[in-house]
Amino acid sequence: MAASTKNILIFGATGLIGEHITKAILDKKENFGRIGIFTSETTLKTKPEQIGHLESQGVEIITGDITSEDAVKDAYNGFDTVVSCVGRPAIHHQLKLIELADHHPGIKRFFPSEYGTDIEYSPASADEKPHQQKLKVRALLKTVKDLQYAYVVTGPFGDAGGLYLSARPPQDEAGGTFDVKRKRAVLLGDGEGRISLTTMRDVGKLVAAALLHPEATKNKALHVNSFTSTPKQIVAEFEKQTGGEKWDVDFTPLDKLKELEQKAWAANDPKAGTVTLRRIWTEGGTLYDQRDNGLIGMEHNVDSLQDAVKQAIEVQAKSS
Ligand SMILES: NC(=O)c1ccc[n+]([C@@H]2O[C@H](COP(=O)([O-])OP(=O)(O)OC[C@H]3O[C@@H](n4cnc5c(N)ncnc54)[C@H](OP(=O)(O)O)[C@@H]3O)[C@@H](O)[C@H]2O)c1
Repeated sequence: MAASTKNILIFGATGLIGEHITKAILDKKENFGRIGIFTSETTLKTKPEQIGHLESQGVEIITGDITSEDAVKDAYNGFDTVVSCVGRPAIHHQLKLIELADHHPGIKRFFPSEYGTDIEYSPASADEKPHQQKLKVRALLKTVKDLQYAYVVTGPFGDAGGLYLSARPPQDEAGGTFDVKRKRAVLLGDGEGRISLTTMRDVGKLVAAALLHPEATKNKALHVNSFTSTPKQIVAEFEKQTGGEKWDVDFTPLDKLKELEQKAWAANDPKAGTVTLRRIWTEGGTLYDQRDNGLIGMEHNVDSLQDAVKQAIEVQAKSS
């Protein structure tokens, strides 16, 4: 039987995706009991408005050091589910969070910080450098005794602001760009390979829906998304929504992407992991025979390509 997912403790709630996940859980708060966040003293000081807003909506704010066993064990009391949205530099801290959750009498389910590319997509995934920390987390979750889990696998975020639908500066264009101001796009691959994207607001809604369907999501990698499209279809939608004029379109073929990837790793470039992920997406690593949205009642209630492009145009307009 699936464990109850009523009382939710969120780690990383004020981060890029954590904010959307926390908002979506709060939007459905009538279905949950306690909703709490575990955050650091530093965040309490640096993000007072965000924390105050959460508090005003009834969220319990628990502060502590994510590496302190006692702080985490205390924080777990009264909750049954942990939703982790910690950033990449903190992925390894989840190993201790999981061990403590497995031994805690109250915590019954753990959602590790995933929200991206499936790190067990194919046998080749085991050797992909950006996957290594998250693979250790999945390996541990396969050995736990008294803890269920779910991996929410969303593919790349279909948003602007540094994500798939962003305008990038000319020197970074090889990583792909949809630049509304310059009406210019650089498409990954030949522009015809399909890719599944999920907007961040949908990631939040999909996690909340997964929490509300404990049986269907028990010990499962959920392959969910907003829509599947191709880079050429995406640029056509940008053209349509920006007055119909043709954009200047260029390409970064897969071979070029692989070359950039090798150079980035050789140079210890902090962006190397991102280049690898882009290569994986271009090779089709976000595509499945069937998506799992229907398992959690989210087959229709997600953003379309049109919605995502509209939002990306608005975000780019605000930042330029
Ligand atoms: N699919 C995509 O396109 C995509 C894009 C970006 C990220 N992601 C994935 O989404 C997940 C969350 O990433 P994010 O970008 O949302 O994270 P983020 O904004 O960088 O950080 C999220 C939170 O992690 C917490 N944290 C605790 N200890 C930390 C430490 N030592 N270093 C950094 N953060 C720490 C912080 O929460 P407190 O301040 O509350 O302590 C922070 O706000 C990751 O698994 C990442 O791979 C996917």
